[in-house]
Formats: sequence, C-alpha cells, structure tokens
Amino acid sequence: MKAAVLHEVNKPLMIEDVSLPNPGPREVLIRTAVAGLCHSDLHFMEGLYPHPLPAVLGHESAGVVEQVGSDVTYVKPGDHVVTCLSVFCGTCDNCTTGRPVLCTDTNLSSFAEQMLVHENAIVKIRKDMPLELAALIGCGVITGYGAVVNTAKVAPGENVVVIGCGGVGMAAINGAQIAGAGRIIAVDTNPAKLQLATKLGATDIVDPRNGDVVQQVRDLTNGGVHHSFEVLGRKETAEQAFAMLAPGGTATIVGMIPFGQKIELHGFDFLRERKIQGSSMGSNHFRVDMPRLIEFYMRGKLHLEDWISAKLKLPEINEGFAAMKAGKTVRSVIVFDA
Ligand code: APR
Ligand code: ZN
Ligand code: ZN
Repeated sequence: MKAAVLHEVNKPLMIEDVSLPNPGPREVLIRTAVAGLCHSDLHFMEGLYPHPLPAVLGHESAGVVEQVGSDVTYVKPGDHVVTCLSVFCGTCDNCTTGRPVLCTDTNLSSFAEQMLVHENAIVKIRKDMPLELAALIGCGVITGYGAVVNTAKVAPGENVVVIGCGGVGMAAINGAQIAGAGRIIAVDTNPAKLQLATKLGATDIVDPRNGDVVQQVRDLTNGGVHHSFEVLGRKETAEQAFAMLAPGGTATIVGMIPFGQKIELHGFDFLRERKIQGSSMGSNHFRVDMPRLIEFYMRGKLHLEDWISAKLKLPEINEGFAAMKAGKTVRSVIVFDA
C-alpha cells in the first residue's frame, strides 16, 4: 500500500510502498478513506517538535474496518470508524479517574492507504455520516470544540476569544456557540478566515493588522474576556491570550508552541485570579464525544461542510501543506481511492 513518508525535516513527503503486518490480537486494520492535514503534522515536518524518522504522519482520519485481531470485539469488518490520537489503556490512573486523554502518547499514520491501530484508538460511527466530514472530527474538531467544552468548560453567556482561526480555531468558535457563549471574538490575520468565523458563530472579529490585539479585545469587552483560546502555537499569541483576560479569566493554550520556547507573563496578573492552562486533544473522551459531535452535525449545529477548503489525492499532499503554510486553507483533506 502507498504512504507519504517523512524521511528528513523540511523535505517533501515521499510517496512510497509500505507494508503492514497482520493485526495483533487487539489491533484493527483500517482502509483509510480520508485524512485531514493538521498543523501539528506541519510542526513535525518542520522539525519544531522532535520525532523519530522515517515516519508516516497524519492523524485526522476516517475509514472502514478491513480486518480485526483475534481478541477484538468492539468493531467488525465493514464498520465505519474515526481514529483518535488519544488511545486509552482503560486501566491506568488517568483512565480510571476520567482523564483518558493523558493516558499514553501515541502515533497514528493516516497518510497511508491502510492503518494498523489498537482498537482503543478508534470510535465506531453511524454509516450515514460522510467519511470526509467524520475525519475532521478525529483531530481538528475534537481539539477545538473540546478545549472550549471539556477543558475550559465555558458557561452560557461567558465571553470567549479564539486566536487563530484554522481548522482547530473554527471548531473552538463553533464549540463556543454550541456551549452558549456570550461574545465570541475571532482573531486572525486572514480576512477570509474571519468571514467564515462569523458564519460559524463569531459575534465579533479582530484583525491584528488593525492594531494591538489585546487592546482591541479589551475595547470590545469592557476590559477583558472570561476565556481566551490560543489556537496557533506561538509565543506572542499565547502572551496575548493571557493579557486579554478579565480578572478571574482563563487562558487555554491549544496551539503547539515550538519545543523549548518559553512564554512570559506579568506576575501581577495572577493576583486577580487569572489562570492559564494547556488543553490536549480537547481533553476528550472520544468514544463519547465524537458520536455526539456527529449528532450535532446531523442536527445542523456543527458546520463541518464549511471546514473543507480542498480535496486532494495522496501525491498532492506536499501542495496541501504549502497551502496551509501560506494560511490559505481551513482544512485540506486527502481522499483515498476506494
Ligand atoms: N494572529 C492570529 N491569527 C494568526 C496569526 C496571528 N498573528 N498568524 C496566523 N494566524 C492564523 C492563520 O491565518 C490561520 O488561519 O492562524 C490560523 C492557523 O491555522 P492552521 O494553520 O490551519 O492551524 P490548525 O490546524 O488550526 O492548528 C492550530 O493547534 O492543534 C494545534 O498543532 C496545532 O499548533 C497548531 C494549532
Ligand atoms: Zn491534529
Ligand atoms: Zn490509561
């Protein structure tokens, strides 16, 4: 089967033949239908995060079960599934205290025609859900939506800022709307993204090119917000997220800030009970959250069709990442031949 392989950082992915072993007792072989390009993949391709090489990246995907290991009871061949990086063991302290997202650190390899994964890395979904939209839920949507709903637990009426309106940021905006947030302020340097953000639920937009972002947000909200979400992965935007909080507010860092980089905060701001926290994969419980997200889509509350900017074939993957780097796309997806 064909896969896009990363051999060296800052070099194009190479389309190569790769073979997989038969599924182990608890493994599932999946025919990949769709794989989304996520900014985290780009962080690894650019060497901003250490990763053993060669590697097949990609982790936002949906497909059809082809073969299952001898002990697998959760799925059977023909089932439709979404993958999730948050594979859970089910028995460790984190899993048994309700934080399975902190269980293990795993890899998926979705830029490939087939995937071999542990059965606890997938969720079964209804067959009337289009697979190309389902794939998005596997990372971008759960990460943004979950940061708002699971990690920050935004309450109805609270004001929210989302800095960076790519696939993950858009999901945070849509999640804030589902959560019943008050003002939802979208921040992005790309006017087209801001326009789409408005469609997904943003009540206000802020373009950093029109002046200091923190001041613009303060002016809109009478002094600061209850919740800010950094969905970009940069030092300066993480610092902005904290600086724009009202007393008692919480900044949630979703973006992957380059490994080793530190952020600086005003110590004084903590005296007014401001908080800053990380959010990993939207603090998900994906076997519960993802089917619920699909229900939201089916009921017209989650606007997944608006996410997809381009549908590509596997050999076009490098062009897809170039478009992401240029900030042009919300989400590009690889659609595999059936
Ligand atoms: N201020 C606000 N927005 C900006 C700025 C800035 N200074 N610079 C760029 N942006 C916007 C881009 O225009 C783009 O719309 O941030 C957005 C980033 O979107 P994507 O590249 O599509 O990234 P995404 O896949 O959404 O991931 C964002 O979340 O999970 C993490 O690893 C992921 O760190 C990454 C982050
Ligand atoms: Zn991702
Ligand atoms: Zn565990």
